[in-house]
Amino acid sequence: MITDQHQRVHDYLRLSLTDSCNFRCTYCMPEENISCMPNAHLMQPDEIEQIARTFVKLGVKKIRLTGGEPLVRKEAPQIIGQLGKLPVELSITTNGVLVDRFLPVFKKAGIRSLNLSIDTLQRDKFKKITRRDRLEKVWENILLLVEEGIHVKLNVVLMKGVNDEEVMDFIQLTRELPLYVRFIEFMPFDGNRWENENVITARQVLDRVEQEVSFIKLKDEKHATAKKFKLLDAVGTFAFITTMSEPFCGDCNRMRLTADGKMKNCLFSRDEADILGTLRRGEDIVPVIKMCMWNKHAKMGGQFSETYEKTDGASIDNRSMIKIGG
Ligand code: 5AD
Ligand code: SF4
Repeated sequence: MITDQHQRVHDYLRLSLTDSCNFRCTYCMPEENISCMPNAHLMQPDEIEQIARTFVKLGVKKIRLTGGEPLVRKEAPQIIGQLGKLPVELSITTNGVLVDRFLPVFKKAGIRSLNLSIDTLQRDKFKKITRRDRLEKVWENILLLVEEGIHVKLNVVLMKGVNDEEVMDFIQLTRELPLYVRFIEFMPFDGNRWENENVITARQVLDRVEQEVSFIKLKDEKHATAKKFKLLDAVGTFAFITTMSEPFCGDCNRMRLTADGKMKNCLFSRDEADILGTLRRGEDIVPVIKMCMWNKHAKMGGQFSETYEKTDGASIDNRSMIKIGG
């Protein structure tokens, strides 16, 4: 078991396959200095399998592949195939552009659920946010996944003045389609120009939604990051990930590995442990993993002492989101 000094048990690993992406989302990637890591610095497929097996032995029950965009990693099919054989729930967070090509790989690996990032349903806005004109392809792929019976969660990062007017459009989607929309509060990372005024909170959205439609609160699962709701007559659900307004650190079971094999005990941690370097030196990674997690801060990487309204984005020492891996 991997525990920390705050009595939390960690059984969920988020593993980044690459810091490259075929999109250029403004909130995830700094505008300047976008250089991706050379392949030799990345964990290689056999190293990933070996590291993942060690985590499974230590009690990990779920592994999520992240990026950048995990599916642009050249060896993605091989890695998904290898991890599919482990006794864990395997999932993936993707921007959706390549999922049609990967369906056979997903099926073979037993992937039944996917998180897909989509922040707008409007073509022009999509182009502005991602700097790519691929909304149509992403939407086609969402429908394809639904047809194939895969559980599709849509991740929508809400940013004031950018896409907050589309909340109802996303919620309306859940009426007829089995889609599980999750609105994520905008978070500060290196180079993403986060300002507390651009955060739009779950409470603010709910106040608005309440005036337009009837909905009910659903029961949340253990360790869930999202607070779930449902329109009365809907097939899907909508939810809020309230990292900024109401952090859920007390129940956190997550660990992260960056594509270059550095372990972060929290999305907002400053410190990292070099798992890949340890493995390549032929040393045991178990004590390194345990020590890294033992030192996890109680809340928000120890970097937010005040509420988000008082947080200065520039004072937070971290990687950019694309180099962390979601
Ligand atoms: N704030 C909130 N969510 C973010 N994501 C990426 N950057 C941010 C940010 N600054 C989301 C992505 C993806 C998930 C892993 O995290 O949209 O869906
Ligand atoms: Fe977990 Fe850190 Fe996120 Fe809190 S901020 S929920 S401790 S990963």
